[in-house]
Amino acid sequence: MKLAILPGDGIGPEIVAQAVKVLKALNLNIEMKEAPIGGAGYEAAGDPLPDATLQLAKNSDAVLLGAVGDWKYDKLERHLRPERGLLRIRKELNLFANLRPALLYPELADASTLKPEVVSGLDLMIIRELTGDIYFGQPRGISTLENGEREGINTMRYNESEIRRIGRVAFDIAMKRNKKVCSIDKANVLETTELWRQVMTELSTEYPEVELTHMYVDNAAMQLIRAPKQFDVMVTGNIFGDILSDEASMLTGSIGMLPSASLDANNKGMYEPSHGSAPDIAGKDIANPLATILSVAMMLRYTFNDESNALKVENSVKASLAQGYRTADIVTHGCKKVGCSAMGDAVVAALN
Ligand code: IPM
Ligand code: MG
Repeated sequence: MKLAILPGDGIGPEIVAQAVKVLKALNLNIEMKEAPIGGAGYEAAGDPLPDATLQLAKNSDAVLLGAVGDWKYDKLERHLRPERGLLRIRKELNLFANLRPALLYPELADASTLKPEVVSGLDLMIIRELTGDIYFGQPRGISTLENGEREGINTMRYNESEIRRIGRVAFDIAMKRNKKVCSIDKANVLETTELWRQVMTELSTEYPEVELTHMYVDNAAMQLIRAPKQFDVMVTGNIFGDILSDEASMLTGSIGMLPSASLDANNKGMYEPSHGSAPDIAGKDIANPLATILSVAMMLRYTFNDESNALKVENSVKASLAQGYRTADIVTHGCKKVGCSAMGDAVVAALN
């Protein structure tokens, strides 16, 4: 098995180091090679996705990514900015299915800003389409009109086959869970998502056991904090999924707890925490590495078909939390506050 390690920027390198530590402790036969992406790619090769990095990712079975982005690159031309490297690698590898599970560990019920009874027992899977929508639609850009005024354009678009393939992922996953899919759209206003709703409805006839419901995205944003346990699988497009998954992460106590998998049609995947690069806390050894460590568990499960080691990693995270270890973002009264690297050590210790 070949794994590409792309630490990226900000807290990326330190959280990835913890995830690699956990992976190595499992003693699996995985060949790991590292390469720069994002701001690190720009520094190394003048490109947020250097060719060598893309080639390495293409030739690997899976990619483990930290995070990209730093304010210091905000003034660069758009195509040189760190985020572009991330969007391009998703597109180049055809990673259209983004799985973002929001799971509340019972130990963290107090860390959520919501009441424990609202979030306890939460186990929700957000499935976000990742290679289409307004993120990639043409035309796009900022241009100057005849009257001298500037205009910004982005285009929300989806074709049927793109909607159907992400819908299938959602229905297939729901079959292994509680058999409920809630499709999120804005079909009352946007034609793109009117088509989305039609295609999801057509597809649902192939999955008679799964209950399909539809919800407008504004209502979904409200329902997620009102009564999040009504959801099993949520499926939605790229931009709505970006926003709703950040919202859902806070149900779990901290965005530092949310892993993700981005899969192509053959379960090749890129695994990364759902959070960003947090440059303000980079290098201080205070970031929460658990989302990245849990992303390794997803990698073992989805790409390496190794459910037993996936569970082992997840159970070790649970055990570390049960022992009271907390990074700053999830610390509550009476717990042992530890840094990023000590949290990684706690998970490794729990493995053995
Ligand atoms: C995410 C991030 C990215 C996105 C950014 C960094 C480009 O917010 O993975 O959710 O918008 O997809
Ligand atoms: Mg996001």
